[in-house]
Amino acid sequence: MDVHSPSEHAAFVQHMFGRIARRYDLMNRLMTFGQDRRWRRFVVRQAALQPGAWLLDIATGTGDIAFEARRLVPDLHIVAADFTLPMMRVGQLRESRLGGNGRRPLAWHAADTLHLPYASNVFDAVTSGYLFRNVSDIAGALAEQVRVLKPGGRLVTLDTTPPPRGLLRPFIQFHLRVIIPLLGRWITGQADAYRYLPESTLNFKTAEELADLLRAAGLVDVGYRRFMLGTMAVHWGTKPAPSPRPASRDSAISGTMSRPVGPSPDRSVLS
Ligand SMILES: C[S@@+](CC[C@H](N)C(=O)[O-])C[C@H]1O[C@@H](n2cnc3c(N)ncnc32)[C@H](O)[C@@H]1O
Repeated sequence: MDVHSPSEHAAFVQHMFGRIARRYDLMNRLMTFGQDRRWRRFVVRQAALQPGAWLLDIATGTGDIAFEARRLVPDLHIVAADFTLPMMRVGQLRESRLGGNGRRPLAWHAADTLHLPYASNVFDAVTSGYLFRNVSDIAGALAEQVRVLKPGGRLVTLDTTPPPRGLLRPFIQFHLRVIIPLLGRWITGQADAYRYLPESTLNFKTAEELADLLRAAGLVDVGYRRFMLGTMAVHWGTKPAPSPRPASRDSAISGTMSRPVGPSPDRSVLS
């Protein structure tokens, strides 16, 4: 990957996912031996969503985490957002094929995680899958996600993580560097996209480093769990409630609280 500025990086990522969108789901199932569904369910459980809650699944791609959340938790308001429209188009087709089974439709929004088009403190949870490995500014993306979370809300993210040292490391590297690009070329015809995956995985933060970034973004109760021989990790954290301020004379007199303006599930920008 030969890109220089954040905007060149974003264009590179959009172009790459645009090219593999049609075969993305199949490749995921093959690369993870079908295990990715289990990790996505774990993401949804960690988000601790109550019926009727508001969820933002950012970098939703074809909507895998969003669909899993809709299946597991009744009556959710789900905003599925991404900056690569062809990925979301595949998700929309899937949604129309699946039918809603009486569940609320997903609201598909075009959005960049570095500049979320939402008011602050509106979502009960923000989830993402395989996002942070692809962003030029992890701290900036986290800051935006924390901003839109309600106090007490949960941020949960699934990503690849560099394989731990040990006996299995050479086998994992072989899988990443040889098997996945071959599979990628065969299934999608886009070997370079699947050379980028191992490269970005091996150069990504370790699970502990990513946990530190979540803490630095102001999250508390941060934790993570590894999967698939330590090559995947789900991280989570909670946005703390603001500490209560001593009641002042002014607030006692005018004490009104404005309702945060939330995104509307009807405001689907992809129709
Ligand atoms: C590997 S796919 C993951 C899709 C889905 N979350 C999943 O778990 O399968 C990564 C997605 O991140 C999106 N993405 C990368 N950078 C982004 C950004 N700055 N803002 C929004 N989406 C972004 C890409 O467009 C792509 O759809």
